[in-house]
Amino acid sequence: MAAVDRKKLDLNPLRDAKLPVIFVLGGPGCGKGTQCERIVKKYGYTHLSSGDLLREEVGSGSERGKALNAIMEKGDLVPLEVVLDLLAEAMLKQVSTSKGFLIDGYPREQAQGVQFEQSILPCSKVLYFEVPDQVMVERLLNRAKTSGRVDDNEETIKKRLATFHKHSEPVIEYYKNKCNTIAALGSPDEVFTEVQKALSSMQ
Ligand code: AP5
Repeated sequence: MAAVDRKKLDLNPLRDAKLPVIFVLGGPGCGKGTQCERIVKKYGYTHLSSGDLLREEVGSGSERGKALNAIMEKGDLVPLEVVLDLLAEAMLKQVSTSKGFLIDGYPREQAQGVQFEQSILPCSKVLYFEVPDQVMVERLLNRAKTSGRVDDNEETIKKRLATFHKHSEPVIEYYKNKCNTIAALGSPDEVFTEVQKALSSMQ
């Protein structure tokens, strides 16, 4: 992708608000989005999914969206600045009413976490949903029947998993002091019971 035009954003309202930030990590199809829905219902945090923000940009039909779609279709990571700007912009829109931010699918490489914390806010907690690859593949192939996502196909799922192991797993080690690892093989309700235990220390 060609050099990215950065958005000019005043991040001071975010820094001043000093709200909690929870990063939600895990491989493709581990259940991040499913659990975030439940967390929002119970705790009222503002949910921002980096993947959803990128798909919105793709949906706009812009040239930048087309370039992003091509990257996502290959299961690669999009440039760090693009995601950071999309997140910051979405956070700014909601900062005045937010109780805290649940950032789903981010950071996907260590540099994303470092840049976010340097320019926006420190992360308060990390939730990592651990699921064996084979189960993630099964979940995604099942979702593929209805999702319409360009990356929900066998070939791209393989690449998404490889990208996760290479770039995103080291992020878990980087945040090990703030990270709760949750075995996420059970039903969504069973997994959420563990999520609540992890979040109880923040209330
Ligand atoms: P993104 O949209 O973040 O996709 P992903 O990480 O691959 O994860 P998914 O959204 O597919 O799955 P999920 O973990 O949310 O699971 P879900 O709850 O839906 O990213 C897409 C792409 O965008 C990336 O590949 C990359 O190109 C780009 N991108 C995104 N963020 C980026 C970043 N920060 N930097 C650079 N590039 C970035 O569940 C999946 C299925 O399983 C559902 O059908 C669900 O019903 C089912 N399910 C959920 N939980 C359970 C359970 N406990 N038991 C049984 N079934 C379950």
